[in-house]
Amino acid sequence: MALFHRSTHDIRRPSAQPAAQQPLTMRSTVADLWANPVGHDALTKILLQLGLGTVWVTNPVVRRLRLSQIKSIAGRHLDAGFFDALLALLNSQTDERPVDDEPATPPLESEKMPSPKPESLTDMAAEGRDDAHRPATTSVSPGTAARSPEEPSGDEPWWKRAVFYQIYPRSFKDSNGDGIGDLGGIVEKLDYLRDLGVDALWLSPIYDSPNDDNGYDIRDYRAIMAKFGTMADFDRLLAGAHERGMRLIMDLVVNHTSDEHQWFQQALRDPQGPYGDFYLFRDGTPDSPPNNWTSFFSGSAWRYFPEREQWGLHLFSSKQMDLNWDNPALRREVVDMVRWWLDKGVDGFRLDVINYISKQAELPDGDGTIAQLIGFNGIENYFYGPHLHEYLRQLRTEAFEPYDAFSVGETPGVGLDMAALLTGRDRHELDMVFNFDHLEMPGKTRFDDYRYDLDYLKHYLIDWATDYPSSCWMSLFYDNHDNPRWVSKVEPNGAYRTVLAKLLAVVQLTSRGTPFLFQGQELGMVNQRFSSIDDLRDIESINLFHELVAGGMSHTDAFAKVLAGTRDHARTPVQWTAGPHAGFSDVEPWISGDGDERDGWNAADEATNPGSVLAFYRTMTALRREHPALTDGTVAFVAPRRSHYFGYIRACDDERLFIECNLSRAPLRREPVPGGFTLLASTYDQLTLDGNLRPYEANVYQA
Ligand code: GLC
Ligand code: CA
Repeated sequence: MALFHRSTHDIRRPSAQPAAQQPLTMRSTVADLWANPVGHDALTKILLQLGLGTVWVTNPVVRRLRLSQIKSIAGRHLDAGFFDALLALLNSQTDERPVDDEPATPPLESEKMPSPKPESLTDMAAEGRDDAHRPATTSVSPGTAARSPEEPSGDEPWWKRAVFYQIYPRSFKDSNGDGIGDLGGIVEKLDYLRDLGVDALWLSPIYDSPNDDNGYDIRDYRAIMAKFGTMADFDRLLAGAHERGMRLIMDLVVNHTSDEHQWFQQALRDPQGPYGDFYLFRDGTPDSPPNNWTSFFSGSAWRYFPEREQWGLHLFSSKQMDLNWDNPALRREVVDMVRWWLDKGVDGFRLDVINYISKQAELPDGDGTIAQLIGFNGIENYFYGPHLHEYLRQLRTEAFEPYDAFSVGETPGVGLDMAALLTGRDRHELDMVFNFDHLEMPGKTRFDDYRYDLDYLKHYLIDWATDYPSSCWMSLFYDNHDNPRWVSKVEPNGAYRTVLAKLLAVVQLTSRGTPFLFQGQELGMVNQRFSSIDDLRDIESINLFHELVAGGMSHTDAFAKVLAGTRDHARTPVQWTAGPHAGFSDVEPWISGDGDERDGWNAADEATNPGSVLAFYRTMTALRREHPALTDGTVAFVAPRRSHYFGYIRACDDERLFIECNLSRAPLRREPVPGGFTLLASTYDQLTLDGNLRPYEANVYQA
């Protein structure tokens, strides 16, 4: 979910400026807000949603404005409680941004590069033109390096060098002919995954579940979903992955459980019993929910339970009941359960919407202005709640750390500074987070039909490489089970499919951070031509469709809207062969794709085609393994302001790699390739060293 959008028109903060220690009030200035980690991320998002760049915040007049002045200027456009809500959120966070051990403005990378000094690169950096439609202030001046990380040592954690691969088991491979992917299917494909060059697998939930949200509604944390197999199958899968040198992480869904979970059933039956306080129940009459919060899957976030004569909170579907993390007994249960899986030998977890676990105690109404900006009511009361850091630390010290287990949090809405507070090495919370700010362009949501401009991705990557503290490490991803396919986002009509898919591979696998591939991405899978709402299975899409129709939209328009953003684009069966049902199953699958596996878009055909997207992914993962500069190296951007040109140098002790990309379908003048560099990989078969890069051309060179 990309709830917020972030400007890449960010500015570099003055060096290591600490967060404001004083509580923020209406007398605080814009500059005070900007110095607060939450304030920084919130302001960035608000400005962006309003169509303004953060260049505003650099304006001295704006910086001196007090909140009280803004209120009198803009007050009538804002909800009465807007400033109270904002200040409450900002003041709930008093920690300072993790300090960078490196200078905030590092020297030019070219000055630090091992000899011989590449004149041409220095030149090209110096002449970096700004023909972009960006404001003059950017986070990066031409040729400026991102921070140089501490050089990695032998005891760097494994996950910094790993390539992860996300499996959505329901759609991966069916081994027993019931049309549903399963654990046996994953076991069948372990060699394929090893040959693809992935180091770790992330399994979307495989626990027992009534499948209201395809397993993200867990009924029993210690049992396998019957449709997926048995615990013995799981043990076989885990052992098989380990035998092949791959690690395996599980999805940890602990913001909520299914309403069919025993805890919830007990809580309904016996409100005074041990599970009575495991969920967020509130009093209220059956006709009026306790507050105005809305669910991510449409409608109110509250469901009435006559058994308790109370309402229960569900941020997602009405069968996904939010857990009460303020109850220590619940936290104890979660720790025990996590340790139970770690005892089995799993290597870590991806933590589902983990930033939502701590809610403001009073569950106050959501502010109307924020709801308008973000699209959901109430979010400021839980997306970065008062005890988030504390609860994460408990989970880490009591469960992850004793097992040296890896953790990556799914954290929708969290910006760069908040992410830094969640992942700073010395803060002992999470190893990494998934940030979603790059998924949609400013002012757009997932359900808008538009063409994504890859220049936006580029500036996002530059911002994070530049501003994310060196004690943090970023994740790199495009596709996942909650989003349409990226190839289609950029070229909705399928033009340039092969080169574009390869270009995305180059950027993801040569950037600094840990890549997460999503199943089918390595095959160049694209969005599906679903023809009606009956083709869709996802509860989010179906609920949204009905909500739009109930609001007066025609079926055609409502379907078009849902089609643009439906998560089902990513959930169709992996295309294994050109045969029936794409080789996924012997029978009609639970959800159908639109059949382009018959045109060569399938693993079997691509495996034997050296020009295929699959072959290219194999090349790129191998390259990443062979060249430590790609994992451990620094990154320096070349001509970063040139629109649609993305060039960078990855360097470590004894090697330098140069990557050049054309992020558009128009030919683009190439920056000179420094002498002595040889080509390692290209999105095209033949290199033409004339002045232009071809559509979506990307090349990787070694010095
Ligand atoms: C996360 C999951 C998504 C799920 C939601 C509720 O965003 O990725 O698939 O619907 O949480 O668990
Ligand atoms: Ca099956």
